[in-house]
Amino acid sequence: MHAASQYSLITLFKNLVHRGIRISRNHSTLERTTNTKLAMSKQYLGLDVAPADTAFGLMANFAADDHPKKVSLLAGAYRDEQGNPWVLPSVREAKKRLSEATHEYLGIAGSPGFVKLAKELIFGPISSKLQGNAASIQTVSGTGANHVAATFLAKHLRPSQVFIPSPTWINHKSIWQMAGVPIVEYPYYSSSTKEIDMDGMLHSLEQAKPNDVVIVQACAHNPTGVDLSPAQWKQVAELVQRKKLFTVFDSAYQGFATGDVDGDAWAVRHFAEAVLASETHPGFCVAQSFSKNFGLYGERVGALHLVVPQSLSAEGAQSELSLIARAEYSNPPRYGASIVEAVLGDQALRLQWKADLDTMSSRIHRMRNMLRQKLEDETGQDWSHVGKQIGMFSYTGLTAMHVVRLREEYHIYLLPSGRVSICGLNESNIDYVAQAIGQVLRES
Ligand SMILES: Cc1ncc(COP(=O)(O)O)c(C=O)c1O
Repeated sequence: MHAASQYSLITLFKNLVHRGIRISRNHSTLERTTNTKLAMSKQYLGLDVAPADTAFGLMANFAADDHPKKVSLLAGAYRDEQGNPWVLPSVREAKKRLSEATHEYLGIAGSPGFVKLAKELIFGPISSKLQGNAASIQTVSGTGANHVAATFLAKHLRPSQVFIPSPTWINHKSIWQMAGVPIVEYPYYSSSTKEIDMDGMLHSLEQAKPNDVVIVQACAHNPTGVDLSPAQWKQVAELVQRKKLFTVFDSAYQGFATGDVDGDAWAVRHFAEAVLASETHPGFCVAQSFSKNFGLYGERVGALHLVVPQSLSAEGAQSELSLIARAEYSNPPRYGASIVEAVLGDQALRLQWKADLDTMSSRIHRMRNMLRQKLEDETGQDWSHVGKQIGMFSYTGLTAMHVVRLREEYHIYLLPSGRVSICGLNESNIDYVAQAIGQVLRES
């Protein structure tokens, strides 16, 4: 081998060793390894390989785990007592009625019938006051609604910052990063009191400038399971009005907090009244998901509603939302929305749906209380926060280290934040989960 190339090979060896790359003595393996590594160091457009999505990565690991006692407490998706996905009886019946459904395109703003019913569900009696003051479109589920809202607001409201709760649903950050708006995380939950950090939240929002955006979750906060009380919502409403901030309500769990769809829309309706009555309010919007409350996770059913003061018209905003939708996906998916429309538009099916919501929320409630009791029996500690939290999740307070041990030693999967999806618990696995948590806590 030529001296120069021998020298460069040695340098390369050293570099690879320095970078922790394993080297085989076999030259052809070395060449292949080297070529791959060199190719990787010249990524297309300089794009690094992003880390896998935490939740979806763990779900894939869970699926590949063949341990007989494995338990997934990961996904915010309802499971029945046997641990299986559940098709709501109201949805099952609506599907039968839709057997001759058309596969034609919907309009850009989606199905007008669906959008009207979606709006009525979230705004209740106020929706009749929203004639010219609300722009509404069907979206690609709650994620799509959040994304269209961010795109619209970044372009037209031009906030200097968006305030998102700490902690929150992981996608809020990604969506607003993509929209190019600087993000400020405001304190939401205090891990010492296991309650809302109201002082921290108000203090942070006081720093916002007019037209800045504030993200809030309408009910059953993901991941903490801790919501603002009506009195606290009123304080926030007063602040955003005084400081002329734009609120984005993310409503992904209507029906899961109080078990009552109207009760769960209280904060949204309170804000809507305030915006309508004001001359100077920059407005607010609701990103509405039907994934959880209809069990239609994969059908991608959602809506976005933007409300402006009574003195203004939302017609221009309506046309701009349609332009964004047209450029991004042309028109939203039809099937899931037609199921929701069939259920909400039929009195008997709507009653059945409310009973279905009750079935889901009461099973979650029962499991939550059982978990609290069993953890207290197991550890002799206070787990009342688990009982008080609401919705699908519990923010247990378990650390990332506890989470790793639960996964590696007991095959129990939860998010690194210690968030547990209560839906994954049932009578057959709850003792195992409580005992494993007790054991991990005793040994740490
Ligand atoms: C707070 C919150 N918002 C929005 C969503 C969006 O859900 P989807 O896009 O499935 O409707 C979720 C889903 O987990 C969520 O937890």
